[in-house]
Amino acid sequence: MTAQAFDPTEFRKALGTFATGVTIITARAADGTPIGLTANSFNSVSLTPPLVLWSLANTSASLDVFRAAEYWAVHVLATDQEELSARFARRGIDKFAGLDIETGHGNTPLLRGCTARFQCRTAFQYEGGDHQIFVGEVLGFDRAESAPLVFHGGRYAHATRRDAPDVKPRAAHLAGSFSEDFLGYLLGRSHFRFFAELRDALDAEGINDMEFYVLSTLTLKPVLTAQELAEGMAGVLDDRRKQALDSLVARTLAAARNRDGVAYELTEHGRDVALRLISRAKALESQVLERLGPDAPVLKSLLNRLLAEIDPTAAAIWQDPAAQRAAE
Ligand SMILES: Cc1cc2nc3c(=O)[nH]c(=O)nc-3n(C[C@H](O)[C@H](O)[C@H](O)COP(=O)(O)O)c2cc1C
Repeated sequence: MTAQAFDPTEFRKALGTFATGVTIITARAADGTPIGLTANSFNSVSLTPPLVLWSLANTSASLDVFRAAEYWAVHVLATDQEELSARFARRGIDKFAGLDIETGHGNTPLLRGCTARFQCRTAFQYEGGDHQIFVGEVLGFDRAESAPLVFHGGRYAHATRRDAPDVKPRAAHLAGSFSEDFLGYLLGRSHFRFFAELRDALDAEGINDMEFYVLSTLTLKPVLTAQELAEGMAGVLDDRRKQALDSLVARTLAAARNRDGVAYELTEHGRDVALRLISRAKALESQVLERLGPDAPVLKSLLNRLLAEIDPTAAAIWQDPAAQRAAE
């Protein structure tokens, strides 16, 4: 295809197939104003000498500052910095408002919480079509173990490692049998293994899994109507919800109230038990997530997506009350 025949949208889409990280490049204007923008054109150039590059659109409001700046810094964003990326990709706002910044070489503003940071001095500048290419000598860098934010196909994405070499894919042993690679098996087995250690604590309180599920759901709001509970737990414990609730009420862990119909709330005892078990569960969670390392947020994000797809009603009850009121 010749350059003349390029369809700009298609060209952009084709370029977007190249997955990149996301960076924010910052510098200090001559008058002391901190400036910065989101850029995914960052790349390494040379190890010795240490050189990196990125390109800036000629239409950028920051063009003159970067052309004049001797120093700039590249911040490789972590997976939880999507909002920061969106903020620095906007024009005409105070991008640094409320940010806790450090200063680096040449008084360059440095952002916190990134996966890596490179402090650079401009080595070369080139014209490159509708962009300016900046090549910088790296004067210093730091990095953290956090997972990087990824940009692919015009959208933010997660980077996740492939299975470690010692983790064999779970294949079916018998052709056509229930496979260990089956999502339901993986979810089910993970669920049972995850809760195995909590089970001792549940047993000690005489609480079964279903009662724990209802008990922890009751901590979400001071009072939950039977209707809210039914909607929030739809598809989860449909027939057994009432049974679990009655059992909690019989053991004075929860109480039924009459408020525009039946509503439930935890008793003081119930709240104590729930909080004790939830903190055990949280401790368990941090141990498990620590083993996954930087991939942990990816797993949570995928499970959230899975739930949103197969259980869209689940979101409503878990919203925080202020956000829910604002939405009403
Ligand atoms: C993921 C992502 C990557 C981007 N990469 C670049 C880039 O490499 N170069 C660039 O000039 N603009 C890039 N942009 C657009 C700028 O961030 C955006 O135009 C910003 O408003 C420029 O700010 P300024 O005009 O204040 O300099 C990117 C935006 C996003 C969301």
